[in-house]
Amino acid sequence: MANSNGRLAGKVAVITGAGRKKGLGEAIATRFSEEGATVVITDIGKPSGDHLPAGNIGTSEEMEEVADGVRSSTGGTIHTMVCDVRSEDDVIRTIADTVKTCGRLDIVVNNAGIGYIMKPLMELSIDEWDVVLDVNLRGPFLFTKHAAAQFVRQGEGGRIINIASQAAKSPAPLLIHYTSSKHGMIGLTRTAAVELGEHGITSNAVCPNHVTTGLGAVQNARRGEVLGTDTEGVLDFRKTKIPLGRVGLPSDTANACVFFASDDASYITGESINVTGGEEMH
Ligand SMILES: NC(=O)c1ccc[n+]([C@@H]2O[C@H](COP(=O)([O-])OP(=O)(O)OC[C@H]3O[C@@H](n4cnc5c(N)ncnc54)[C@H](O)[C@@H]3O)[C@@H](O)[C@H]2O)c1
Repeated sequence: MANSNGRLAGKVAVITGAGRKKGLGEAIATRFSEEGATVVITDIGKPSGDHLPAGNIGTSEEMEEVADGVRSSTGGTIHTMVCDVRSEDDVIRTIADTVKTCGRLDIVVNNAGIGYIMKPLMELSIDEWDVVLDVNLRGPFLFTKHAAAQFVRQGEGGRIINIASQAAKSPAPLLIHYTSSKHGMIGLTRTAAVELGEHGITSNAVCPNHVTTGLGAVQNARRGEVLGTDTEGVLDFRKTKIPLGRVGLPSDTANACVFFASDDASYITGESINVTGGEEMH
């Protein structure tokens, strides 16, 4: 049974890029559902081109497994929709189908992202730059634009939550495309907050440090190659820089998303909150 007393009871949330097991999107879907929201899990559904290969994306099959898992753990209402966030047609269709299926839209979490292409900037191709900017920045722009239009039609405000990164605040070697896209996401978050505030729409970002998701595991392996160590060595090194002494968990990010989606955050907009155990402080 859905939690009718939860902090998000009666709300409808779309989460992008939530079709991979152990991903931040799965954790956000779980926490939102625990708090009573109806959740629409979306993901690209199938490999696309050279840079979105099967092993690094949420397929339709995996997305259904994620949805089944959330449904059985929370008893909530979970829908799935295939949506490539780079496609304006897909974004428009996903918002329209959500409103048709669930009656309304209250929250969008821009979570889809690519972070597994890691190269020195002098070796990075324009295709690699473009695909990362398209998924990590064009996609959130499209969802912000079309969700805002739906929120304005409904006339009751709305919430946009962008999953940025520690890489939105600080540089990260081998990730110039990723850090540029995530820094850009802070500008998107702030400007949307300024323009949409008059409609009661808030726009905030969550900036996690390393979390060992599918994407995080690829980054650990690549960092290990550079540092001449294995994944355990990389994680031990990461922990030395984190005051709270552990790397992030998907639930850490999900809890921050619940806060931004809840009434408790109704007077907070344009913020980019670090969820890094103290590793990032500005
Ligand atoms: N894991 C970390 O250490 C970490 C840290 C900070 C921020 N983040 C951010 O968190 C978000 C989630 O990442 P994650 O670590 O859970 O990895 P993940 O690989 O589990 O999730 C990323 C998802 O994005 C989806 N995606 C990629 N291209 C897409 C497209 N064109 N359309 C729709 N979906 C698409 C993938 O299919 C995948 O399901 C990303 O934006 C990432 O940059 C992750």
